[in-house]
Amino acid sequence: MGLALIVHGGAGAMSRDRYEAAREGCRAAAVAGWRILVQGGSALDAVQAAIMALEDNPGFNAGTGAVLTKDGRAQLDAGLMDGATLDIGAVAGVERIKNPIALARSVLASPHVLLMGAGAEEFAVNAGMALCEPGELVTPAQYARWQRGYAAGDDVNIGSQLDVGAGPHSNSNGKSEKAEKAGSAKNGRRSGKVGAQVDAQPVHVDGHKHGTVGAVAVDAAGHTAAGASTGGIAAKHPGRIGDTPLPGCGFCAEDGLGGVSSTGHGEDFIRLLLARRALDFIAAGHSAQAAAIAAIRLLDTRVHGDGGLILLDGAGRVGYARNTQTMAHAFIIEGMDTPFAGV
Ligand code: GLY
Repeated sequence: MGLALIVHGGAGAMSRDRYEAAREGCRAAAVAGWRILVQGGSALDAVQAAIMALEDNPGFNAGTGAVLTKDGRAQLDAGLMDGATLDIGAVAGVERIKNPIALARSVLASPHVLLMGAGAEEFAVNAGMALCEPGELVTPAQYARWQRGYAAGDDVNIGSQLDVGAGPHSNSNGKSEKAEKAGSAKNGRRSGKVGAQVDAQPVHVDGHKHGTVGAVAVDAAGHTAAGASTGGIAAKHPGRIGDTPLPGCGFCAEDGLGGVSSTGHGEDFIRLLLARRALDFIAAGHSAQAAAIAAIRLLDTRVHGDGGLILLDGAGRVGYARNTQTMAHAFIIEGMDTPFAGV
């Protein structure tokens, strides 16, 4: 059993000139969570700290810098789960909360599981949290994208291959870039196999940006936690809620099995309860990496969904997989000096 922490910055398409910023944002978030783990802090605290770092980074679709609804508002969702107690806290559709994951954490400590909208914000005030102005969450870049109408090509998902992380000893950075080139070369064809094309269906080009963030940690006591935070999909219908605040869909944790955080087109993750399914693959004897691959394969084949997930098993072993062009991520486990980051 060892300390471990993994974060993601969303699955989807990203121009190559943004790769390093995405890697650096994930690295910084991993360091924020790792500091807590090495000081003996809990997996839950580490997950919250890592996700707050990503929410505060305007380059990711969560907290400040989230994508906007079709009527131009940032409506944020977040949730997290304690694998030791199975306690869950989540919020949906909040518009005046700078760090929705912090509010989700307060909900976790209450008798509630999921609070939405104005009621969640009222709960925040009663818990002593400051509300922000809705406009504080809207960055000039997201406002400009919304004004343009989130045109095709603007962070659209052109998911084209199932790419998998091979764990802490692999160079998934190089692997991902290679896979990205292969995806471009296929020019609109979808492939589905680890490192090889196995089919050729029309690729999903849905015009939505996926940039949900998330984290999973295992602490010194062997406890797991997982969480996620998002602005949802770009130009979403006001009130639309995706997988991110829904336990078993956007996140899941259970001591002994591990933790999962998902990113992608949320409706498909909800249909499959994909985060829980990934843990069920571990329960059935899969390794961390095999469980991540199996879950994304299921997403791909069963509902033709797009996205990715990160995973730690109960012993802190790393797994991740995606069927989109990129999924920014970083992980650090005991024995590593600095996080490994990739897209
Ligand atoms: N995965 C984020 C969403 O669909 O809202």
